[in-house]
Amino acid sequence: MSTTDTLPDAGVAAPSPPSASARTCLSVLDLTPDGLETCLALAAKLKRERGMGADAPTSRALAGHSLALLFDKPSLRTRTGFEIAMQELGGIVTCPPSADALGTREALADVARTLERWISVAAIRTFQQSRLREIARATTRLRVVNALTNEEHPCQALADCLTLRERLGDVRGATLAYVGDGNNVATSLTHAAAMLGVRLRLASPAGYALPAATVAAARRVARHGAEVVLCDDPVEAVRGADAVYTDVWTSMGQEAEATGRREAFEPYRVTGDLMAQAGRDAFFMHCLPAHRGEEVDPDVIDGPRSAVFDQAENRLHTQKALLMLMLGAAPWPSRASAP
Ligand code: CP
Ligand code: NVA
Repeated sequence: MSTTDTLPDAGVAAPSPPSASARTCLSVLDLTPDGLETCLALAAKLKRERGMGADAPTSRALAGHSLALLFDKPSLRTRTGFEIAMQELGGIVTCPPSADALGTREALADVARTLERWISVAAIRTFQQSRLREIARATTRLRVVNALTNEEHPCQALADCLTLRERLGDVRGATLAYVGDGNNVATSLTHAAAMLGVRLRLASPAGYALPAATVAAARRVARHGAEVVLCDDPVEAVRGADAVYTDVWTSMGQEAEATGRREAFEPYRVTGDLMAQAGRDAFFMHCLPAHRGEEVDPDVIDGPRSAVFDQAENRLHTQKALLMLMLGAAPWPSRASAP
């Protein structure tokens, strides 16, 4: 099975400016292609300037702003990345216990209406995307960032795009292979890749392919000849690719399915042999945390072609950029600037 979708160029018909003045980033789709470009350019600048410490021009950019971290699931990179981001931009962070804020104690809408009286932005990691939408709908002031849901992981995609840019330069026409579950990471990567003009090939076992809605959304935002190819053959996906990406076979919240998933995904492990089918200079990507010996062999993730800790580092720079843009400390592109 192989379905190719050459995505028509959305061009100036990009659907909307960054949503409601970028009040929410529940999805990469809340950014326009130009908004994504702006975020990546700012992240690269913040990365260059980080060594300046307190002398960096942005060291007080978010003074007076506060960020609430509400996490229903574990996290190292996303949570710590946001904490350091706020510290380095002069803002503050608060971490209300998730059982109090996201549990059964009170309505999510009431949590949102309370938090908006005190703070500027909430980064939320939870289960269904609909819970994030419920929070975002209840408030007009609070900025809301998706720090991972079952369906999407936009903050990860921002770091992935920065990493691709650093390694490949112009990513228009570059080929990225994704091998494994058509999950939250794959969905956000697909949205972002479409906006940047990447040719994405995803190989997943039957029943675990990227949702059709993700491909349809990618079509709406695609530029620069982006493609999405869905197949079930990892070799077909990887052949000649510039980079090979995988994620865990069992995401957080799916633990009860782990045995069945291990069986289904066994042929989808990224091994040295599979990497040998990719382009000569191809590198390996993973959002982390990783399970060596499951979705990836140790010699691949720990080898010279691995970009995983660049991705992890870039979580910080891209989250800083996103916060600055959403809180008005840096300008989004105007709609008129769309090419
Ligand atoms: N990649 C990622 O989101 O890592 P954490 O789960 O540690 O935040
Ligand atoms: N797909 C994984 C990503 C973790 C960062 C999960 O949702 O658990």
